[in-house]
Amino acid sequence: MSDTTRLPIKIDTSVAHEARVYDYWLGGVDNYPADRALGDAIATHIPAIRAMARANRAFLGRAVRYVIEELGITQFLDIGTGIPTAGNTHEVAQRCDPAARIVYVDNDPIVLAHARALMASTPEGATAFIHADLHDPEEILAEPVLAETLDLGRPVALMLVAVLMYFRDEDSPHDIVARLLNALPPGSCLVITHPTADFDPKAMMNVVVASEQAGITFYPRSHAETESLFGGTEIIDPGVVPVVTWRPEPAIDSARVDAADPESAWYWAGIGRKL
Ligand SMILES: C[S@@+](CC[C@H](N)C(=O)[O-])C[C@H]1O[C@@H](n2cnc3c(N)ncnc32)[C@H](O)[C@@H]1O
Repeated sequence: MSDTTRLPIKIDTSVAHEARVYDYWLGGVDNYPADRALGDAIATHIPAIRAMARANRAFLGRAVRYVIEELGITQFLDIGTGIPTAGNTHEVAQRCDPAARIVYVDNDPIVLAHARALMASTPEGATAFIHADLHDPEEILAEPVLAETLDLGRPVALMLVAVLMYFRDEDSPHDIVARLLNALPPGSCLVITHPTADFDPKAMMNVVVASEQAGITFYPRSHAETESLFGGTEIIDPGVVPVVTWRPEPAIDSARVDAADPESAWYWAGIGRKL
């Protein structure tokens, strides 16, 4: 495991942070009163938010397994990693193929602190962590540890799981995704989940307001808007669908996923293959 940082390392516990609010919903312990206050405020508008976060996390595991087993891709660039918790990308990937190689990227210093301790690789594979911001993809791509860990001549899975909602349209998320994909060879793939207001616009609008009051940009996207983030790729069957219905694996996800109710988690999910 190597790590590198390009951002200041200052952990401010007085304001809510995206990674720590998500950690709170997942039942983690790496969160503070401000994070829990926002997490609880959001739960008043979406009482099932914890189950929804777990459903998003369960998709991440299914997607990693699918990418290795069905697409034969064993390299991952996982941006917006989150605080390490059960089923991190490298754990799932290296269980399928111990030689899998993973580069994590997150801009939250608390993720960096945990990455050092927790993201241990198998001896056959490799993991690295870059403390950087998705707003600047060239900086991520220029980081020497990226090319030392991933062979950019071979396909890579670009994971943008529950992170693009922090980008408004004026932050050019389509352009950011395109610039990252441009650096990866054909046959690479793009994995995205994105929260949506499509299932309950009123509740989601309250979440937008609560997040912004806490200083966090939160920008849900419609099905069409989420699908448009896959530009330059061929979207793999079943398409961009409610997260619980993307190739559900009831035997593995068990109680976490209720695939019978597509609207039980308000995220769109999909995988596209770079042409
Ligand atoms: C909701 S968590 C998702 C974690 C994981 N991908 C998952 O789905 O389980 C979002 C993560 O994105 C990170 N993040 C938010 N904005 C970012 C940015 N501009 N650059 C890099 N990471 C960012 C947060 O720090 C947080 O760890």
